[in-house]
Amino acid sequence: MTDAPSGRALVQCCAVGKTFPARPAPVVALDDVDLTVDDGEFVTIVGASGCGKSTLLRAIGGLESFDRGRILVDGVPVRGPGPDRAMVFQNYSLYPWLTVLQNIRFTRQLAAHTSGRTTASVEAAMGRSDALLQLMGLAHVAHAHPGQLSGGMQQRVAIARALQGRPRILLMDEPFGALDAQTREVMHDLILHVSGLERSTVIFVTHDVEEAIYLGRRVVLMAPRPGRIDSVHEVPLPALRDQSMKQSPEFLALRRDILDRIRATAGMKTDLELLQKLSRTAAAP
Ligand SMILES: Nc1ncnc2c1ncn2[C@@H]1O[C@H](COP(=O)(O)OP(=O)(O)OP(=O)(O)O)[C@@H](O)[C@H]1O
Ligand SMILES: [Mg+2]
Repeated sequence: MTDAPSGRALVQCCAVGKTFPARPAPVVALDDVDLTVDDGEFVTIVGASGCGKSTLLRAIGGLESFDRGRILVDGVPVRGPGPDRAMVFQNYSLYPWLTVLQNIRFTRQLAAHTSGRTTASVEAAMGRSDALLQLMGLAHVAHAHPGQLSGGMQQRVAIARALQGRPRILLMDEPFGALDAQTREVMHDLILHVSGLERSTVIFVTHDVEEAIYLGRRVVLMAPRPGRIDSVHEVPLPALRDQSMKQSPEFLALRRDILDRIRATAGMKTDLELLQKLSRTAAAP
């Protein structure tokens, strides 16, 4: 899909801070994080391990409290999880005893039943899950159990389940981290297609810079100690992505810039310099 984001802010993080009590010293997982994501935008977040990516995503999802600042979704402060936000994690967290179809329907059916709604809303949920089975290429395994499926197929089920309640925002934490390279490429094109069709806003955390550039219209680079936003990079590629773009000079240049920046923020350059300095000292007469 080529629909441009609306330009209207949907998620606003304003000076968000979070400190975990820890020994020997508290860990500042988020320090003064400002981030605005527009309605319909696909934003990716990269950064060295421990820089607060998951903490930020969980805070937006309402699964993690924060100590300072504000997070607004459509202008309303986040105080906990809600049906407007769905999370997808690396481990698919499917119910192994339910079939693919039952997994996709489960949460929505439960919500319909517990809220006292009746047949009509349950039927609507059924129609929606059938459509998602088709969209995610799962129709032929609808009655299989998760254990019978490959990792890629299980993650398709997890995404379909997340989409079942028509969330406005998909929060994805390294969802393809456990998949092989070829399956990841297929999943990249699938998630771009599906999020475009659904007009979802996506915030996608990854360790993989190539993945971040291919999927994101903007790449947010976080840095550790304290966890913070280091820089935000616009991706200079056409909205309709194609795997061959990964070889383009623009793609490769941005990849190099971001990788260099991650190394610098993670202190790797400093470590190298230190190592060189130490070895020079050791070699000196
Ligand atoms: N429950 C917790 N208690 C104490 N410290 C925590 C807790 N959760 C996270 N942290 C610390 O907060 C910092 C940020 O963690 P977070 O999981 O957000 O990083 P991340 O960028 O997602 O890392 P990774 O790339 O390894 O997944 C880390 O230093 C981590 O050790
Ligand atoms: Mg993480």
